[in-house]
Amino acid sequence: MTSNTRREPAVTTPATHREGHSWQDVSVGAERYERGLVPALFEPWATVLVDIAGLRPGERVLDLACGTGVMARAAARRVTPGGHVCGVDVNEDMLALARRAGPDIEWRQAEASRTSLADASFDVAFCQQGLQFFPDRLAALRELRRVLAPGGRAVIATWCAADAGDAGYTPITQALRRHRPHDPGPLAFISAIFGLSDGTELTQLVEAAGFDDVAVERRTKTVRFPSAVAWVEAFLGAAPVPAVSALEPATSAAIVADAATALQPYVDPTGLAFPLHTNIIRCSGQRPTS
Ligand SMILES: C[S@@+](CC[C@H](N)C(=O)[O-])C[C@H]1O[C@@H](n2cnc3c(N)ncnc32)[C@H](O)[C@@H]1O
Repeated sequence: MTSNTRREPAVTTPATHREGHSWQDVSVGAERYERGLVPALFEPWATVLVDIAGLRPGERVLDLACGTGVMARAAARRVTPGGHVCGVDVNEDMLALARRAGPDIEWRQAEASRTSLADASFDVAFCQQGLQFFPDRLAALRELRRVLAPGGRAVIATWCAADAGDAGYTPITQALRRHRPHDPGPLAFISAIFGLSDGTELTQLVEAAGFDDVAVERRTKTVRFPSAVAWVEAFLGAAPVPAVSALEPATSAAIVADAATALQPYVDPTGLAFPLHTNIIRCSGQRPTS
């Protein structure tokens, strides 16, 4: 698509920011995130995204909103020898764990729209499940394009809510509504997780940031946990929402029990298994100079 056909997308503020907190201000249970959520929710997709990008040894890779670094570590395995990987995140708790788990990777603390990275310094950029949380998504995407070298490519993923309510998360939302009716924080966080579900909105946003050859696809994987209780506890334990981490034990137990009961349709003899959908965007940065 050429620039004169690009439309500015409607600017929407992610729900977490309307509720007055951002990832920068909260202490994330980084250990609980890495142990409890990464293997089931994020690691399987990191492998898919590096395959889609077609990483080659020697390439320079940026992982924006790197969290505890699962995407960056997957990329580093593919660009060795000779490559370089840099992970950027706003949250120091996440980065501290990333530094321990990936000592050979460069890690930087920065807000997504102001990374201070040099122009045109990466061949490939990833952003796995971060874009939906950024306060200024368009500025962050422009930043991503700015740091890509001519001919560079980006692969971005955002969770995609199911039409009939999301299988794994809706029971948690309903239990939170029942037991914390006056606490909008956790509900806003869950809605922010799915805040860029619409593939058309995502495409317009990426095109408005100046990317070309934009292609979006929706893919699904089955998320597995040993039990429904294990999933709900893992999610509540790692959620970067102060109200969730401060739940009184009785309230927390009631939320876990209610949500786990509602998840029974997804439980079989091997444990809990529910579908989770994601949008995956691939796009090109500046055209290579001929
Ligand atoms: C759901 S986690 C995904 C982390 C990682 N990409 C992964 O696949 O595990 C979202 C990440 O986005 C980061 N984040 C949120 N807002 C950000 C911002 N404005 N700038 C940079 N990072 C941000 C959070 O700190 C968090 O680590």
